Amino acid sequence: MNLPCKLAALMKTQDFGKFKDWFCEYVKGFYGDDELVNEMMRLKEEHTSRVCSDTEIIASRLGLDEQQKLLAGTIALFHDLGRFEQFRKYQTFNDFESINHSGLAIQILREKKILNCLDSTEIKTIEKAIAMHATKQLPGGMDVSDELFAKLIRDADKLDIYYVMIDKMEDYRSRPEKYSESLGFSDKPYLTDEVVEAVLKNCRVGYHELKTLSDMVLIQLGWVVDINFVVTLEEIKKRKLLGRVAEFLPDVPESKKVLAHCTEYMNERIAANG
Ligand SMILES: [Fe+2]
Repeated sequence: MNLPCKLAALMKTQDFGKFKDWFCEYVKGFYGDDELVNEMMRLKEEHTSRVCSDTEIIASRLGLDEQQKLLAGTIALFHDLGRFEQFRKYQTFNDFESINHSGLAIQILREKKILNCLDSTEIKTIEKAIAMHATKQLPGGMDVSDELFAKLIRDADKLDIYYVMIDKMEDYRSRPEKYSESLGFSDKPYLTDEVVEAVLKNCRVGYHELKTLSDMVLIQLGWVVDINFVVTLEEIKKRKLLGRVAEFLPDVPESKKVLAHCTEYMNERIAANG
């Protein structure tokens, strides 16, 4: 993929290698005697590793060059860097109850001078993508290359969040008592009408509008309309992620309707590209 030449051949493979080594050492420092903390750290470490792999897949399928892949890999590696400190300090991954984890990641990278070996344009692109990886949507008028990398991390992150959700729901089904205090939603098998309607209209739904755990599963299906690249949709289809997530919805007609709607949306975008 051709991008403005300002990103030309600056970051080196060795730089990326150093980033990976530093990340491993940094994360090791968060493990200790507390098993809950260790489990949460492992969750984020494994998430990062899968997002890195998916970033490679999407970047290759988009036809990015080696330089762009290094940049995309760095963004993937550091996008959730703030999660470790966030949990240690606040014992939660909820940004509203603690701190913006994207901003925290950038703050840590700056304080530890991790990206100082890079060109200032590359640093800006990395920081922008990290800053925007979890926002509701991207602002208009972004620089073309900044937008590409921001879209890439958002897609790779969402792709993995489907797996995180499937794992969590499986774990919840096998030991619901573990979540009894932290769930925050009713686990009754009901869907909220307004949430169903919003997903069917391809509208975004805020967390504050969710009333049940099933609503939470439902909006994950709806995230398919926020996927930026058709290659990511093709991965979602290949991995049968919508169907796997929908297995956790209650056995009511609305569940089937939403799954059919999201599947149709995905298939139409894939077909339009072919
Ligand atoms: Fe994140």
